[in-house]
Amino acid sequence: MTVMMKQLSLVFLPLFFLAACAPATAVETVPPTAVSSTPLAVALATPVVTAVATLAAPPTITAIPTSTPSPTAAVTATPTATFTPSPTPLPTVASLCADRIPAPDDLLVIVTGIYGLSPQFAPPNIVPLSDYFGVDVTKGYPSEIRESVAEPLRQMIAAMQAEGLTPQIISGYRSYSAQAVAFQKWVEREPERATMLSARPGHSEHQLGTTVDFGSPTLYEYVEGADPTLEFHTYFFKTPEGVWLLAHAHDYGFTLSYPREAQGVTGFFYEPWHYRYVGVELATLLKENAISLTEYLLVNNPAPCGEE
Ligand code: DAL
Ligand code: ZN
Repeated sequence: MTVMMKQLSLVFLPLFFLAACAPATAVETVPPTAVSSTPLAVALATPVVTAVATLAAPPTITAIPTSTPSPTAAVTATPTATFTPSPTPLPTVASLCADRIPAPDDLLVIVTGIYGLSPQFAPPNIVPLSDYFGVDVTKGYPSEIRESVAEPLRQMIAAMQAEGLTPQIISGYRSYSAQAVAFQKWVEREPERATMLSARPGHSEHQLGTTVDFGSPTLYEYVEGADPTLEFHTYFFKTPEGVWLLAHAHDYGFTLSYPREAQGVTGFFYEPWHYRYVGVELATLLKENAISLTEYLLVNNPAPCGEE
């Protein structure tokens, strides 16, 4: 077996196991998988999240906690929050080379449910989004991003605004510990599917500082029964901002990390709001060939664990 085949089998077998363990409707559902969310501090402060969405079958998803504290939340979630392991059994996921510390300029490091990052890894030059955007974009959240990504992000947001769109940024950089807090919320809410809805600490692209979750102020209008506070829902793909991003984000170097079609490869449910910066050339190649970054990196990049 070649090294590449070994790598691929190491990756795909657990993913197929993961998919097989998921509710069949969650994997195969054609109607949009409904996912709603609030920022982490809101989720922490407010045990009951209003927007409940259903898949084709009973399983429901109530919220995706993020690490971005709400400016109005009474409880402040700090990035240094301690991760308390849940006693709830989770689907078994093997971690391979999960302690990596990528080179500061490496924009193409693979980060999946299997390939992780060291708790010690923090990207260089993280800057506040408020240095680049007004509260109409940041919603007043203290989100951050890698400085090298700020300018392409600014250009993309400006292009959207020039077309009359109102993009928002719900979440940017998340530290290892912030991701641990976010993941723990999912473990408590959806223990059997937590690993497909949220990355375990060390396994989120948000830790790279090159990844952004976008929002739309009109999202709730596409979701029956939702109120204007709704921030995450699969119907983001129907909003003008979601439509534009899907069509044009690659022109600014951003790629949709978790397309619906790649769920079996990425191991995560469809996230039409989650974009990662990889540069215009690769983002365009991925778009034109309709493949996900995960698929591309598994095939084209050196083995993540450094095997020969
Ligand atoms: N929701 C994505 C997978 C994350 O937690 O990074
Ligand atoms: Zn995200």
